[in-house]
Amino acid sequence: ALSAPRVKTSEAKISDELVSIKGWVKTVRKQKTLAFVEVNDGSNMSGIQCVLPFDQVDEATIAEIENLTTGCSVHAIGKIVESQGKQAFELSATSLRLVGSCPGETFPLAKKRHSLEYLRTIAHLRPRTNTIAAVARVRSTLAGSIHSFLQNHGFQYVQTPLITASDCEGAGEMFRVTTLNTDDVASLPRAKDKDGKELPGVDYGEDFFGKAAFLTVSGQLGGETYACALGDVYTFGPTFRAENSQTTRHLAEFWMVEPEMAFADLTSAMNNAESMLKAVVGDVLDKCDEDLEFFAKFFDKGLKDRLLKLRDKPFVRCSYRDAIGYLQEEIAKDPSKWQFPDVEFGTDLATEHERWLAETKFESAVFVYNYPKKIKAFYMRDNDEDGGETVNAMDLLVPGVGELVGGSQREERLDVLVEKMKELDLDVDDYWWYLDLRRFGSVPHAGYGLGFERLVTYVTGIENIRDAIAYPRYPGNAEF
Ligand code: 4AD
Ligand code: MG
Repeated sequence: ALSAPRVKTSEAKISDELVSIKGWVKTVRKQKTLAFVEVNDGSNMSGIQCVLPFDQVDEATIAEIENLTTGCSVHAIGKIVESQGKQAFELSATSLRLVGSCPGETFPLAKKRHSLEYLRTIAHLRPRTNTIAAVARVRSTLAGSIHSFLQNHGFQYVQTPLITASDCEGAGEMFRVTTLNTDDVASLPRAKDKDGKELPGVDYGEDFFGKAAFLTVSGQLGGETYACALGDVYTFGPTFRAENSQTTRHLAEFWMVEPEMAFADLTSAMNNAESMLKAVVGDVLDKCDEDLEFFAKFFDKGLKDRLLKLRDKPFVRCSYRDAIGYLQEEIAKDPSKWQFPDVEFGTDLATEHERWLAETKFESAVFVYNYPKKIKAFYMRDNDEDGGETVNAMDLLVPGVGELVGGSQREERLDVLVEKMKELDLDVDDYWWYLDLRRFGSVPHAGYGLGFERLVTYVTGIENIRDAIAYPRYPGNAEF
């Protein structure tokens, strides 16, 4: 029987002990007296080269070499020795066995290069490619690093529900959750708005939950309730938005990190977001060097400089009013260069505006703060100065991506909040529990949401957010 302690290729060290390597074959090269089998176990990019000298391996191994193809899984045993090749070491094998075969004619990844678009159609196999495996490792490192940073800074991890009756952002982009099967749906009445006008789709009534229920667009409201009890908390989970947008920055299901801090204002939220990003980018630079080299080589030459700059340079902070001023000045030079040249106080910035600010104007990550009230969510705290026109909101814009973080100080004054909700035609009764926070020991508090996949695209330099998550959901796609 073949047995030796298993070693991951990311941890392989030169040693006299026999070890096992278990993974998937990338390439096989057979020569007269020996064979080279490149094996990758997913723990790092380079994997390990297994050298099989025919006079050293057992009979069964020699027979097995004929069965090895790209993509098959193997178990190799040998010693890790110094190598003349591109890696410092290799496995000098004494045996190798096929674990699972992989027919070259049908394996979609048998040939080397594939477009990222094609790989999305085989999302279950694409983690076997260098690119998607590297994205997955960086993503995992980022997630661990975010948890560590926040926990080390005294934040408690709270898990808020995914099924909810509240539309946190008030943008109406929620997916409905229902228990009804399709037969029932056909017999349901048409949905109507509150004035009795027919809406597209059917009226699901109140089925399972006794109230219309949806997939959450943000964990913030639940996060606020826990911050107003535990102090500093964060959520980190999936969120859902039925935005009908086919862009490289939007997903219908994405993960969000949402720190929420009691006894805190907008500046504390910006400071925390800045420190967290610097820490997690620093961690990735330390831990994912091989993967970052790969991304720099194939996707974004300036990647490392960009990440070092984010880690080491203070972020710029610029008021929304000033940002609008800079944009107007720039657009006036040549309006034809802009898709959305009409920019004034009250304009919701488009990606081209955000990217110009971060990439050209400031060449830096930049917090834009104090946005107009009328383009922001109901829960944001009014600026008492500033003619009552703005709220304590901020967006963090970064080169290459645009908006990476959105946050605010929350309105903690009951009367102001109720007034505003009424203005926005929100049903105050639906938010009774949220308003209770302002009735019972209200405190100034603030928080933000970091779009996790946007962070992954920023850190890897990959273009499309659909390649930053294992199984992307977007209009027209919920396969796998
Ligand atoms: O700016 P947003 O909508 O803010 C909130 O949801 C707040 N409740 C967060 C909070 O204060 N706790 O979303 C936050 C971030 C955005 O800056 C963006 O990075 C990301 O979430 N995001 C998306 N990422 C991928 N696909 C989408 N459709 C996204 N929508 C927002
Ligand atoms: Mg936003």
